Amino acid sequence: MTQKIALTGIKPSGTPHIGNLMGAIEPAIELSDTYQTLYFIPDYHALTSVRSKEAMAQQVYEVAATWLAAGLDPNKAVFYRQSDVPEVFEFSWILSCFAPKGLLNRAHSYKDCNAKNLDAGKDADFGVNMGLFNYPVLMAADIIMYGADVVPVGQDQKQHIEIARDIAAAFNHQYGDLLKLPEPVIREEVKTIPGIDGRKMSKSYDNVLPIYVPTKKLRKQVMKIVTDSKGVDEPKDPDTCNLFGIFKLFASKERQAQIAEGYRSGGLGYGAVKQELYELIDQYVAPGREVYQEYMEDTARIDQILSEGALKARALALPTLTAVRRAIGIGK
Ligand code: ADP
Ligand code: TRP
Repeated sequence: MTQKIALTGIKPSGTPHIGNLMGAIEPAIELSDTYQTLYFIPDYHALTSVRSKEAMAQQVYEVAATWLAAGLDPNKAVFYRQSDVPEVFEFSWILSCFAPKGLLNRAHSYKDCNAKNLDAGKDADFGVNMGLFNYPVLMAADIIMYGADVVPVGQDQKQHIEIARDIAAAFNHQYGDLLKLPEPVIREEVKTIPGIDGRKMSKSYDNVLPIYVPTKKLRKQVMKIVTDSKGVDEPKDPDTCNLFGIFKLFASKERQAQIAEGYRSGGLGYGAVKQELYELIDQYVAPGREVYQEYMEDTARIDQILSEGALKARALALPTLTAVRRAIGIGK
């Protein structure tokens, strides 16, 4: 039986964070024992928002080094840069011809921009480029071109995968069952990791806990986690506390119960919980930190790994693209 395919990407729109690591990277790497895995860096997706060439180049390396430090084995997984597989842009155009505009009008990221603009008294499409609008089509191409069965992601990407399924189904309706419909794989416990301000941790909210930064910088970010202003002695509610929500991700069940008890009975201050959380995260990321640094100091090695990966990715993509070209009557 041929192995099923798992695929996911992290776009280089900022330094990767704990939400990316626990919500997408770790679950994806764990699939590599049972699936054929493809992991990639969707740099052209980042172009919808990143307009500094230095930032783009740097962030591609940061995302790549993060995957490698988190345990991606490039001999086992196909690891590549989206822009090194030009076939995906051709495929994206083909899929765009099957993507109802109304479906894309309803995509969350586009709708959020519209809502923000309207709130600010601006035109709904102010500052919206077609890359942002077409984002879900390129993402559908990323997934469908490789016949991915599953896509490990955080909750925020679920709609994009549903859109990919809808587009594939629209194509299949016309030309027969050629394209595989992907399934999202979302882990309940880590589907939306909170940021230091309690909203979803996101590169776009400036509320992240970065992963492989020097320990001092990590501590500084942990200390910035927002809490209410209850004093040490006052009883506190662990269930509504963002700090405790993050703490739970790293502490043993037993320690979680002890800290929850400390919250309820009073006498435990947020400062002490932050210090312990910092130590837990520091331990968690310590093994990868060195590997991350090594790669960041040898970006030529990253380039080499990614270009070798792109060759494999292109070979895997070709059968779908060839079949699709034939099906639509373009190409032999
Ligand atoms: P960001 O929102 O920081 O820009 P991305 O959109 O690049 O993150 O997300 C990359 C992957 O990480 C996606 O699969 C996404 O669902 C996942 N992810 C991002 N933030 C979180 C989070 N806070 N909790 C869980 N998963 C997340
Ligand atoms: N949209 C994803 C994000 O913001 C990145 C992405 C692009 C992706 N193409 C993909 C994720 C294909 C999974 C599969 O995180």
